[in-house]
Amino acid sequence: MENSLIAERVRARLTAIRQANLYREPRVSTGLDFSHNDYLGISSSRLLAEAGARALEILGSGSQGSRLLGGHSRMFDEAETAIAEFFGAPAALFFSSGYLANIALVTTLSPLFDRVLCDELNHASLIDGVRLAKVEKTIFPHNGVSDLITTPTDLIITEALFSQNGDFVDQRALSAQAAFVLLDQAHSAGVFFEDGRGVKRDWSTTAMTVTFGKAFGVGGACILCSAQIRELLINSARPFIFSTAPPPVVPAMVMESLKIVAKESWRREALWAMSSQVRAVLSEVDPTLQNTDEWGQRSPIIPVRLGAADRALRLSENMRQSGFETRAIRYPTVKVGEERIRISLSLSVSEDNALGMAKYLVELWKEFL
Ligand SMILES: Cc1ncc(COP(=O)(O)O)c(C=O)c1O
Repeated sequence: MENSLIAERVRARLTAIRQANLYREPRVSTGLDFSHNDYLGISSSRLLAEAGARALEILGSGSQGSRLLGGHSRMFDEAETAIAEFFGAPAALFFSSGYLANIALVTTLSPLFDRVLCDELNHASLIDGVRLAKVEKTIFPHNGVSDLITTPTDLIITEALFSQNGDFVDQRALSAQAAFVLLDQAHSAGVFFEDGRGVKRDWSTTAMTVTFGKAFGVGGACILCSAQIRELLINSARPFIFSTAPPPVVPAMVMESLKIVAKESWRREALWAMSSQVRAVLSEVDPTLQNTDEWGQRSPIIPVRLGAADRALRLSENMRQSGFETRAIRYPTVKVGEERIRISLSLSVSEDNALGMAKYLVELWKEFL
């Protein structure tokens, strides 16, 4: 029998979402795509596909269970060793996504500290981790690390390259803090800091997340940390204990991707050059895009701030009809009033096409100002 009362409530929720301009649905990108995070254009690499095919042949498609049951295989050991070495970390623990890795890390670490301090622009996975941990949190203004006064029993949770603003954490301020730091490198890993090998910090006061579905072009994620914290994660992190391990083909392809990122530095350089040039074009309408240092100029994440969901949706739709995929970013991804289009540059689009998109966007953007 149909439960019409609940169906009516579902309909009412959907109507409210639509009326607030917050309705979303998955849509296949058409035209030139500036909405994904495959920054180095690696996801289409032949070498990755071949590494995946080899692993599939040898290890089969599914992992068959969680890592603490039959889901563990030598592929995870090999990948974690290679990943820890690549990022210069004592240990690494593989997860099927960055979202799960962050939930695991935040819920495991937060209860050990007297205070948990979070940047106001932290990603949803970090926010949800704190919520699940049921600990008190203090939110500090975006990139306000230098104003914090911390002790070694404080935990600072922040990102290296912020996913929606495209700006970097103040590393010097972070280094000056006494607190333990949980640093999410989802968007910087592979592209920034020491040839993509990540921020260098003392591992006795640091744990990090790196994801492989963005610059590494595959999927999955790792927590980088001390051997002792890894041991604790294995013994208490629910996303590790209670979830089927990713198919072994995932770590196999990640290992191939690490080799490409290590060898092909031209990819990073081409992306940085493209980012600086696109920013220069867009700064005609938003001069703040150029008010950054040399590294800020190289960030491939460029926010085009519209300040209202309907405006962001209209601009994005107009761009789409002209052959450019630039998606509207709305609440809860950003705060109400901070709605924007997020340009995400990648080597899967040529520099000429990226500049063409930027010039077209400038003309359109002027109409919206
Ligand atoms: C800063 C940040 N952390 C973590 C994640 C989650 O990573 P994944 O997409 O692998 O789940 C994202 C995803 O976009 C992110 O932007």
